[in-house]
This record gives sequence, structure tokens and C-alpha cells, in this order.
Amino acid sequence: MRVFSGIQPTGQLHIGNYLGAIRQWLELQEKEECIFCIVDLHAITIPYNFREFQDIVLKKAIEYLACGIDPEKSIIFIQSDVKEHTELAWLLGTVCPIGDLNRMTQFKDKSKRFKNSINAGLFNYPVLMASDILLYQTDLVPVGKDQGQHVELTRSIARKFNKKFGKTFKIPKLLLPKMGAKIMSLQEPKKKMSKSALSSCLFLLDEPKVIREKIMKATTDSGKKILYNPKRKPGISNLLTIYSLFSGKSIKELEKKFENKGYGDFKKSLAKVLIKSLEPIRRKRKELLNREVYIKEILKKGAKRAQVLASSTIKEAKNNMGLT
Ligand code: AMP
Ligand code: TRP
Repeated sequence: MRVFSGIQPTGQLHIGNYLGAIRQWLELQEKEECIFCIVDLHAITIPYNFREFQDIVLKKAIEYLACGIDPEKSIIFIQSDVKEHTELAWLLGTVCPIGDLNRMTQFKDKSKRFKNSINAGLFNYPVLMASDILLYQTDLVPVGKDQGQHVELTRSIARKFNKKFGKTFKIPKLLLPKMGAKIMSLQEPKKKMSKSALSSCLFLLDEPKVIREKIMKATTDSGKKILYNPKRKPGISNLLTIYSLFSGKSIKELEKKFENKGYGDFKKSLAKVLIKSLEPIRRKRKELLNREVYIKEILKKGAKRAQVLASSTIKEAKNNMGLT
């Protein structure tokens, strides 16, 4: 099976990214052919700091490697290093109805957030994402729930293209984690944890002291019991999900463990688990920060390997469309 996923270089990684996407990647790279892409071309569709951008992209690559992406097992590269991504995006744009793009939730959200810079790139964002995926004849796309709509659109674009020009692309499948596909905000547990709301986010690189503070301040629900019930007790249910995923203990086990304890004890224990789980990532990242040349080499090598696959697909797509 070929696996492809992308992640934006801007904003700090939070435990939602880790549990929704990265953790699946780590499992998949052990048995499947994985391609991971740092999508810098997607990131520039909203206002960004172009002077610092290269550095930001490199640092993000370091974070993924620190999380455990292994360049011996997976291809990891920067999107703009493989020009076929933009080329195929143009071709796919000619079969994608604008009505479909108008319906995209992420476009609507970002248009609200960045009222003064709603550009054509932001509108076409999902077409570039479809290009990322289809270029590699991908079987599986492991992402969090919020990306489901984009993957569905990718499938629809591929089907339209194949119908019109003959079979060219594999139809990829969405892969959501069984648990953790939508980690909720620590402050407002009915909303998704999102890097746009800083205080409600637990970042992978938060210091132990900050982790403890954020968890102790996390919103809990009425009542005192530690029970999983996302409708009635969204706060504690979200924390139980996080606890379970980081500790490997089932929710049932955790409910039992904290049967006669209060929220305070539970949170203290959760903070401990998080500090212990995230410490190796922080340590590895520190180490890698001093090895820029090596990281750049990994990314260039990754791009070369990706390009071999991408150029074969684009050749076929162009050919099938009647282009030279
Ligand atoms: P983004 O930070 O939006 O580039 O997302 C990177 C990856 O993390 C995507 O696969 C998202 O679906 C996933 N993701 C983002 N936020 C969450 C969340 N709160 N819970 C689970 N997965 C998430
Ligand atoms: N849009 C995705 C996000 O915001 C990132 C992304 C870009 C992606 N291209 C992709 C994810 C291809 C999976 C496959 O998280």
C-alpha cells in the first residue's frame, strides 16, 4: 500500500496533530510505503512571514523527524521541491467544479479568519491537495477528521478525470485513526483543538511546567466522576481520550483507575503521562537542531525519490489529456 500525507509548516504542532495524524504515520511507516510532505505551497495561501519562511519549514521538518518519522523507512520532502505538484494542480483544476470548492468548510473558515486576503490560492487549496495525493497513485491518506472533506473531493476529482480522459489515477482512501481523529480544545471542549486558539492547545514542545498548567486549567464538566461521555461530559471525555492514547491504557481501565478520585488527581496524573511521553520528542528535536546540513540532505534526497514517482504520473496525465 502506498500512503501519502501532508502537513503544513506553519504554526506549532499540537497533540491534535500528533494523535490525529502523526501517530498513524509512525505506525504505517513500519509496514507500508510512506510519503510525507511538508506543504509549504499550501501554507502561503494565508498571510505569512516570507523572510523567515525557509527557516520555519526546516524547523518543521526537524519536528517531524523528532516525532519519529524515519527517513530510512519513509520519504519526507518539501512540496515546492517537486514542481509536479503545481503542474498537476493546474490540470486537475480544469476538471474540478467551482461549486465543489465553494462548499469546502476549511475555505469558508479561513475566508472568515483572513477577510482581507481571500486569494485564488486559498480557494484552489483543495485542488493542490488533490494533486499531492494523486501524483503518487496513493492508496491511503492518513489524516484527522477535519481533512475528510478534502480527501472526498480528491476522490471525486480523480473519478471525473478518469472518466473523461481514461484511467489515470488510483482512487485513494481516507484513513482516520480509530481514536483521536478529533482532539478537542482544552478550554472549549466542544470545539476542535486548533493552533489558531493558542491557550487551548497543548503543543508538542511545551515545557513540563506549561503542560502541567494547561492541563490543570483545562475545562472539565459538572459532576465529579471521571466518565467517558462526549455529549454530557465533553471536557473529561477529551482528556480521557488523550490519556488513553498516550498511556496505551483503555478508557475502561482509566475509568476504573480513577473511580474514586476527583478531577484534580486525574489531571495531575495526565500531566505526568504527557510530560513523560513528550520529553523524548523535545530531546530529539534539540539534538537535530544542530544538524541542519544532515536534515537538508534528507529533504533533498526525499524530493528526488518523490520526483521519480511524480514525473511518471504527470507524464501519463498530460498524455491522456492530449498535451505533449
Ligand atoms: P494542520 O495543523 O491543520 O495542518 O493539520 C495537520 C494534521 O493534523 C491533519 O491531518 C489534521 O487532520 C490533523 N489535525 C489537526 N487538528 C486536529 C485535531 N484537533 N484532532 C485530530 N487531528 C487533527
Ligand atoms: N490540508 C492538509 C491540512 O491542513 C495538509 C495537506 C496538504 C495534506 N496536502 C495534503 C494532507 C495531502 C494529506 C494529503 O492538514
